[in-house]
Amino acid sequence: MCGIVGYTGGRDAYPIVIKGLKRLEYRGYDSTGVALAGPSLRVYKKKGKVASLEESIVRKELGGSTGIGHTRWATHGEPSDRNAHPHLSASGQLAMIHNGIIENYSQLKQELLSKGYQFKSDTDTEVLLNFIEEIKHNNACSLEEAIRIALKRVTGAYVILLIDQDMPDTIIAARKGSPLVIGVGQGEHFLGSDASPMLEYTKEVVYVNDYELAIVKPQELVLKNLGNERLTPYVQKLDIELAAIEKGGYEHFMLKEIFEQPKTIFDCLRGRLHAEDGTITLSGIEQHSEALQKANRIVMIACGTSWHAGLTAEYIFEECCRLNVEVEYASEFRYRNPVIHPGDIVLAISQSGETADTLVAIENAKSKGAIILGVVNVVGSSIARMSHAGAYTHAGPEIGVASTKAFTAQLAVLTMIAFKIAQLRNSISPERLSLLLHELESIPAKVEKILSNIEPIQQIAKQYAQARDFLYLGRGYNFPIALEGALKLKEISYIHAEGYPAAEMKHGPIALVDDQLPVVVVATKDSYHEKVLSNMQEIRARKGRVIGIVTEEDQAAIELCEAYLAVPAADEMLAPLLNVIPLQLLAYYIGIEKGCDVDKPRNLAKSVTVE
Ligand code: F6R
Repeated sequence: MCGIVGYTGGRDAYPIVIKGLKRLEYRGYDSTGVALAGPSLRVYKKKGKVASLEESIVRKELGGSTGIGHTRWATHGEPSDRNAHPHLSASGQLAMIHNGIIENYSQLKQELLSKGYQFKSDTDTEVLLNFIEEIKHNNACSLEEAIRIALKRVTGAYVILLIDQDMPDTIIAARKGSPLVIGVGQGEHFLGSDASPMLEYTKEVVYVNDYELAIVKPQELVLKNLGNERLTPYVQKLDIELAAIEKGGYEHFMLKEIFEQPKTIFDCLRGRLHAEDGTITLSGIEQHSEALQKANRIVMIACGTSWHAGLTAEYIFEECCRLNVEVEYASEFRYRNPVIHPGDIVLAISQSGETADTLVAIENAKSKGAIILGVVNVVGSSIARMSHAGAYTHAGPEIGVASTKAFTAQLAVLTMIAFKIAQLRNSISPERLSLLLHELESIPAKVEKILSNIEPIQQIAKQYAQARDFLYLGRGYNFPIALEGALKLKEISYIHAEGYPAAEMKHGPIALVDDQLPVVVVATKDSYHEKVLSNMQEIRARKGRVIGIVTEEDQAAIELCEAYLAVPAADEMLAPLLNVIPLQLLAYYIGIEKGCDVDKPRNLAKSVTVE
């Protein structure tokens, strides 16, 4: 959460920093600010999105070829001008931005208050900044040294970028637990929470690791550890095109990303799925073939939508691999004392690869000797680097805050992993596997077909947008899809929505059903079909408004619906990859009907780097 940008080089820093912040707004948009160095150190900041800052500073002095910028997701202190970053130190000499949380900030604040410091904001960031300045002053040391000393006292997660008025061409950066990428240009350097702010300038990047400090000047990048030893920056080449992070004619990133799914699923299968010869190539997974053959169980850890992908995969793994699977919320797992034995397999699922709870849960499992397999979208992210092996989802940058294409890519990868393990364990017949592989291959075309007929979805969105609550029901493979549909609607339209296993309805939620309540039932043809049709009857008998996700031409289901959206027929194991698409679109169009900012829903951020 929070996006950070920095630039030092021969160009004007301000436009580069502002453009970078717009790219990182998905990480938080409660307030925005920039600090520019040059003849003087200037800080401009404002509550609200980047556009509000831009409007407020048109007549200001914006020159300077070194700058840092921040887009905030509030943790300590309400969203306001004064809590916006960058913060200035007490002397006005240093400016700092921060992504993360300083957990022991109140202890540090007390120390500083006792020395007479006063604070202009409620943030942990201003505390850390003044703590650094205090050390610099007391020890008469360099800023770099003061940062090193200060960070040894800090608990929590951070990426910080600092500018010192006396070193106007230098940015000092440090990280622990939050992401930092440095772009290496010709006589210039770029810093960002991810690579998107630097894509049009350079493809050469360095991913900074935890407990590292970077001293960044136009001509020089010095990387050190907290023990002041010099490290050799490992420069990697980015494999992302600029078009991937632009809207490309769509009104919103979310819509673009929904429509990208035939391609992203295809990209994810490409080179891995060989339906003709009945094989799957997943080199990361194959490295651990022996452990996977012997395993008694697999633990999956994830949050939010990624957790839903894990939950859907649980059904597939159990069916195909005859393995015991536990799907855990990373935020719960990290604080329990989970039973993990050396050699246990833990699958960590994350789009961003930076989710704080998932990171700590991985550390926890790793410390107990588990083998960590990552299913991650962002290449080079912390979770990807922390995993022993894994498989990237190859969905490309996902910028809309609500996850869509990353979910289907996760599900496609997890399905392939399940098939691979099933093959290794001989727990699936070659005939059934061959059928499933061919079916999986046909999924992108079926998604394309759903996306070619969005008018009924738009109509349903219009018809139901004013409802106060929604219930989503599904059974078996489609229960997690009901959860995911409900989550999408909540996030995008702020309508209360609950997902439930269809058969559990009669144990409570049926009390909610009246002639006002839309109930979205994922009712495609599968082994539970007749049962789900009975649940639909039960809702109708209570005058509930059934919106069905049904298999094309399934008259029996269609007759039970007030409205319906049809999807092509598919094997029940793969149907979730199709059924979620109309639910994503329904949430999107209801959000649009309600005038919501669908790409940046209130209170949310894309990359949840705080716990
Ligand atoms: C919902 C959504 C979130 C994320 C969750 C985990 O649309 O995007 O629920 O799925 O914050 O994020 P990652 O997958 O980046 O670990």
